[in-house]
Amino acid sequence: MRISRLQVYGYRSIKSIDLKLDALNVIAGANGTGKSNLYRSLYILWAAASGQLAHVLAQEGGMTSALWAGKRSKLDDAVFRIQVKMDDLTYKFECGCVPASARGFMSYPGWFSNDPDIKKEEVTTDFRARKIHLLKRKHGAISARNIDGRPIEYPLAGSGCESVLSCLREPHLFPDLSVLRQEILGWRFYHHFRTDLASPLRREQIPVFTPVLSHDGHDLASALASIMAAEGEANLRKHLSNAFPGAELNIDMEPRTVAFTLQMPGLNRPFNARELSDGTLQYLCLLAALLTERPPNLLILNEPETSMHPDLYGPLSELLVDASKRCQIVITTHARELAATIEKLSGNKTIHLEKSDGATSIVGARPFDFYDDDEDDEN
Ligand SMILES: Nc1ncnc2c1ncn2[C@@H]1O[C@H](COP(=O)(O)OP(=O)(O)O)[C@@H](O)[C@H]1O
Ligand SMILES: [Mg+2]
Repeated sequence: MRISRLQVYGYRSIKSIDLKLDALNVIAGANGTGKSNLYRSLYILWAAASGQLAHVLAQEGGMTSALWAGKRSKLDDAVFRIQVKMDDLTYKFECGCVPASARGFMSYPGWFSNDPDIKKEEVTTDFRARKIHLLKRKHGAISARNIDGRPIEYPLAGSGCESVLSCLREPHLFPDLSVLRQEILGWRFYHHFRTDLASPLRREQIPVFTPVLSHDGHDLASALASIMAAEGEANLRKHLSNAFPGAELNIDMEPRTVAFTLQMPGLNRPFNARELSDGTLQYLCLLAALLTERPPNLLILNEPETSMHPDLYGPLSELLVDASKRCQIVITTHARELAATIEKLSGNKTIHLEKSDGATSIVGARPFDFYDDDEDDEN
């Protein structure tokens, strides 16, 4: 399933934003305009579906950091809301602070008070122009539509910081919710590949079939070897020589170790991973991530151009356009040149972000109010 629309309200610098998404989406903006916050809003949904919401939010400062710090009308609830539309399913997720009355555990008031408290969680589908609720969670009461189409009280054996999707114990009874959970868990995020001198991806690695590159690229050699073993070699070599004309990638596979080398034209010996530049390694990581033999439904890359010379923007754009034929891609970038090259090649308009009064907004878009239509079309 593809995400066709993403709406975010009240999350970090994103006061309110409404995005229509395509097969390949480029979100561009200067430093501090909120690109990573947008990237993270999707990561929050993934964290909620995988049962790691509280930990992921804690790493970024807990609920007090996650909530939009700007002016709020008195009527506005102090919550953030993230909503995605995927085919005919819409998932709405709303989180706020733990109410004062519920803070603390037994005799320890105030404990875990910076954890998230899920206020609302909804899954709806459109049926004959009507909104049907497949899941409705509000103020702790949860009802879910089961396989017979009947809304039943859902016994959630979790706490306020756990999503219904993460606690789904009988997926066969709630097939729509189960499909949605699997879809969200299938999203793949790449935020930062470690290319420093001490990075594990510069060292020999344990050879193991790796159809999916790890989020930090530490298993790059195995991932490249897996693409070659699984019939992706020609495409990998094509995109490699697009970026580094005449370069040859070799895999040194031993029973207990795997490493790769790159032979550059004009040099007498190949270079190993310890010798390659940060930008070259970054590009190899992107090759492994994008040419995976197991494409996800959604692949999200945060500033993939890091450490790269602008000469590589053309080949990277071709790589992204090629990969977007197999999965939906969202990238954020602060390189205008890269955004323009991708736009030219794909025909998809870049989404330009800017910040005014501390709030992230889309250049040229009308202000958007994330209307909470919760009470409409009751079903
Ligand atoms: N809770 C918050 N409320 C408002 N703004 C925030 C909040 N948390 C972070 N920010 C702002 O978000 C900006 C960082 O956004 P980020 O997504 O990292 O930018 P980019 O990735 O475009 O460089 C910073 O300017 C920071 O001040
Ligand atoms: Mg950023």
